[in-house]
Amino acid sequence: MSQDATVDRQWIDEEKGLVNREVFGSPEVHELEKDKIFRKSWLYLGHETEIPNAGDHVTRTMAGDSVIVVRRPDGTVGAYLNSCAHRGVKVCRVDSGNTRRFVCPYHGWSYGTDGALISTNFDALYPEGTDFTTMGLVPVTRLDSYKGMIFGNWSSEGETLDEFLGDFRWYLDVFFARTPGGAEVLGPPQRFIVNADWKTAAINFGTDNTHVITTHIGPMTLSSTPFTPPDLMAAMGEAVQVSTGNGHSCSLVSLPGDRYAHYPKELHDLYDEQLDDDQAGLLANLAIGVSTVFPNLSFIENTPSEVEPGVFMKGLLLRQWHPIAPGQIEVLSWQFAEVEASDEYKQAVHVRAVNDFGVGGLFEQEDVELWSSVGSTTTSPAARDHPFVFATAVPFMDTPVTDHAGPGNAYRPFVAEITQFKFLQHWNKLMTEGA
Ligand code: FES
Ligand SMILES: [Fe+2]
Repeated sequence: MSQDATVDRQWIDEEKGLVNREVFGSPEVHELEKDKIFRKSWLYLGHETEIPNAGDHVTRTMAGDSVIVVRRPDGTVGAYLNSCAHRGVKVCRVDSGNTRRFVCPYHGWSYGTDGALISTNFDALYPEGTDFTTMGLVPVTRLDSYKGMIFGNWSSEGETLDEFLGDFRWYLDVFFARTPGGAEVLGPPQRFIVNADWKTAAINFGTDNTHVITTHIGPMTLSSTPFTPPDLMAAMGEAVQVSTGNGHSCSLVSLPGDRYAHYPKELHDLYDEQLDDDQAGLLANLAIGVSTVFPNLSFIENTPSEVEPGVFMKGLLLRQWHPIAPGQIEVLSWQFAEVEASDEYKQAVHVRAVNDFGVGGLFEQEDVELWSSVGSTTTSPAARDHPFVFATAVPFMDTPVTDHAGPGNAYRPFVAEITQFKFLQHWNKLMTEGA
């Protein structure tokens, strides 16, 4: 979309809390997002525990480009455009594996796990003085990690990863680094295609709290959670949604009870060892945590279930929403648990998470069917002049509460569309920068 179009057709009405429908499905917006957001933002690439050994690799996506993420011989992580330096053919054809070299299937150029060209197969035919060291795989421009979470950025300019995550690191610690060993991924991600805009998914997790009591009232009522829907409604009155800037947000629901009641007993001392007092205070009674790290990374620690009297467990899922076409995403979904948790616990939460949020999971199906039903109404002439409504955000946007111990700004009511709209405001800022 040209910059003129952004002016002609205002995307967001900040005063009224309205968002133009085309934001969620127009081909022009989809194209512009690649340049304005996905080629400039820090994007999640994977977790260190997915590639523990030299030669371990996974293929991921950045701004629509396939990327190889690999553990190099020296133990560091590298990330390279999955495109042969000869004529662009996709070099690595698998989702994950272990190798000493990547060999292009077209003419046989081979690359080390450090991205360097090993051989063209016909080195002797090249002109004398050819510098083969310049003919390796293209590295991701910037690569960094936070507590095992690997991020890449195609841009050489802008914030460092630490600056980009900012205060949100405090919350990442509570979920992914709350024991000395940290979190580990439990197997490869599930991958599936959904006919929905990536922002619909991102704001659903960060943080559409309203839908929980309608969309998911069935499983919330029927599953073996230690609290009833009335308990949950009461907890929502006290719950907060938190924005730490840069579009990052989380929702936190606490329920009174014993300290760390919803987590395995063998980990309680480790939480105390690893977390500061405020972080431990948050985890102590945390029932549900759900979040989005801008632009397209989300996680949820879902409602605990009672597996036997007094024994609870809950899964921790990490999600990525890759835009692959206007109104279409590929979803990657990983399950995590604390490294120090027992194998039995890891197995149990993995099964629980897949049942709830796997590709055929109960909660997942409920969400995805609704997201995809938005369909062509985002661009249909019949509807496009009628904006989407986030107006419940407006009365509360500038009045954070003061009784939340963590960083960032916390807001109530829990079910107002505050942090969802802040996400979209940030999106709008990036999309219109330089316009
Ligand atoms: S395109 Fe890869 S070797 Fe030719
Ligand atoms: Fe949902």
